[in-house]
Amino acid sequence: MSQKRWNVAVVGATGAVGEQILRLLAEREFPIAQLKVLSSARSAGKTLQFNNETVTVEEAQPESFHGVDIALFSAGGDVSRELIPHAIQAGTLCIDNTNAFRMDPNTPLVVPEVNGQEIFNHKGCIANPNCSTIQMVVALKPLYDRFGISKIIVSTYQAVSGAGARAIEELNRQTAGIIAGDLVTPDILPSAGLPVKHQIAFNVIPQIDKFQDNGFTLEELKMIKETQKIMGDPSIKVTSTCVRVPVVYGHSESIYVELKSDFEMEDVRELLANAPGVVLVDDPATQQYPMPVHATGKNDTFVGRVRRDLYEPRGLNMWVVSDNLLKGAAWNAVQIAEQWIAKQEG
Ligand SMILES: NC(=O)c1ccc[n+]([C@@H]2O[C@H](COP(=O)([O-])OP(=O)(O)OC[C@H]3O[C@@H](n4cnc5c(N)ncnc54)[C@H](OP(=O)(O)O)[C@@H]3O)[C@@H](O)[C@H]2O)c1
Repeated sequence: MSQKRWNVAVVGATGAVGEQILRLLAEREFPIAQLKVLSSARSAGKTLQFNNETVTVEEAQPESFHGVDIALFSAGGDVSRELIPHAIQAGTLCIDNTNAFRMDPNTPLVVPEVNGQEIFNHKGCIANPNCSTIQMVVALKPLYDRFGISKIIVSTYQAVSGAGARAIEELNRQTAGIIAGDLVTPDILPSAGLPVKHQIAFNVIPQIDKFQDNGFTLEELKMIKETQKIMGDPSIKVTSTCVRVPVVYGHSESIYVELKSDFEMEDVRELLANAPGVVLVDDPATQQYPMPVHATGKNDTFVGRVRRDLYEPRGLNMWVVSDNLLKGAAWNAVQIAEQWIAKQEG
């Protein structure tokens, strides 16, 4: 890795995604000169460990970015909307995990394995897609390039960590409470800020984020619109149903995809086996298929249960699993930062 060192800020450093960003920066020996860890006033003054050193959390403010080269944001859309313009003004490259700028036509929406060239078309901010979108496009990109894609039907089985650190606590608390015979009071899910809450332990919730007027949830619309933007192809018909399940880490997706041209199953398997960021785990004879417990803590996207549809010869079914906090958020953001600094020095 590079010789030059960079001043880096992590905004939302105390959160579920921020924790993984810090872990990856340390593990990958990211060339950091100075590190700032930022949060809300609630966590300011707390300390975190980074590379065996203690760093003190500061409150994120508009003036926090002077002298910062790269800032990785995961503190919610409102914080990004407020602070990223100030950071850009200060000359900071912002890599944003939130929904704030993803559909902004001036902001590239990047998954390095799919449209990595877009990293270099930024105007100060690069958006990281939604976690569910990222793993789907990583799995579908090799098929898109070879055969074209006309239609995608996806149903998700999303882990509670996708809703942040408090949702993990909520699942743990409810599970322990119900096993102990206590009554549980849902507090966070389906989404902080919504008036009605539902139990997640021993349940599934077919709602992630707010409902829109068309009956889809915001999460479902993110998967639809972001897929078209990342693939650079608004003609792909996408429909999505997003469901929260009582799993802590790792989103799973059942995907039906219709390709534009005929295909052989051997070619599909070979493409998936050789695709960047994809690990093919697909052997019904030995019951090998991806599962969240195996994907947790890994940066790859795992694909299995690959089979031709029974009625549509150009239709393909598959099962795709990835760690939502890693490829779905922290790893995708750190990958973008690494590729950007490599080019600055190249
Ligand atoms: N979890 C995922 O799988 C995932 C995947 C992709 C994208 N994202 C996006 O990443 C963002 C964070 O997600 P998360 O799961 O890490 O949430 P989280 O665990 O709830 O953490 C939120 C972080 O944001 C900070 N924060 C909250 N309000 C703030 C404010 N006003 N100013 C500065 N910092 C503030 C919190 O700091 P305090 O400690 O001070 O509260 C905490 O560090 C969300 O926008 C989410 O949509 C999450």
